Amino acid sequence: MRQDGRVTDADAVPFDLASMRKQYRAEGLSESELAATPVEQFARWFQQAATDGGLFEPNAMVVSTADAEGRPSSRTVLLKHFDGRGFVFYTNYGSRKARDLAANPQVALLFPWHPMARQVIVTGTAARTGRDETAAYFRTRPHGSQLGAWASTQSSVVGSRADLDTAYAELAARHPEGEQVPVPPHWGGFRVVPESVEFWQGRENRLHDRLRYTADGAGGWRVERLSP
Ligand SMILES: Cc1cc2nc3c(=O)[nH]c(=O)nc-3n(C[C@H](O)[C@H](O)[C@H](O)COP(=O)(O)O)c2cc1C
Repeated sequence: MRQDGRVTDADAVPFDLASMRKQYRAEGLSESELAATPVEQFARWFQQAATDGGLFEPNAMVVSTADAEGRPSSRTVLLKHFDGRGFVFYTNYGSRKARDLAANPQVALLFPWHPMARQVIVTGTAARTGRDETAAYFRTRPHGSQLGAWASTQSSVVGSRADLDTAYAELAARHPEGEQVPVPPHWGGFRVVPESVEFWQGRENRLHDRLRYTADGAGGWRVERLSP
């Protein structure tokens, strides 16, 4: 499509998108088999996704944020830890997502486990992880990724690929392999404390199962079934 919205011959695509659809034949998800907490349920599904889900990166999730004006944006990020305290990812604190979260900590995480006809959607509030937790994770990263965290001013415009490569090469010269790389002050984790977690299982005839846990404010969870 052109910028003025007119459709041109270049728009012709060799796909009949309207007829592209799959029938989901998976076993359902019932209230009786759900775990007591969404994190336990997530752990069960994650285990299945990571072992026989046919997924390249089961911990890849889409993180959606909104800025102070409510403008949304989404991007893929890797989940690096989860437990009863929440879902943790690491990023650059100067990035667009981090700036959004500073202005508006509301966030949504979406796990698109398409080969299993499943998705999990978490909504909640994000807060920075402590520096000790960030440092402990940073030290587990490969040397090159540690340098990359220093070399990138994530989400800002760069002049060229060469600028990035030069910045990386200078850092690599300063911190050779085997040497401890300090944790960049502009880099760290966010922990998303869930307020709701929806488990979606694709079923036949588009009559999917959707079971949603919502925090009841007293440390417990309410479970509701949503219409597909
Ligand atoms: C599979 C995959 C995994 C990614 N993992 C991360 C990650 O863990 N942390 C991160 O900051 N960016 C990650 N990215 C890059 C982000 O999608 C995004 O480009 C970057 O964080 C800048 O986003 P922002 O400008 O919206 O803040 C990943 C991208 C892909 C495709």
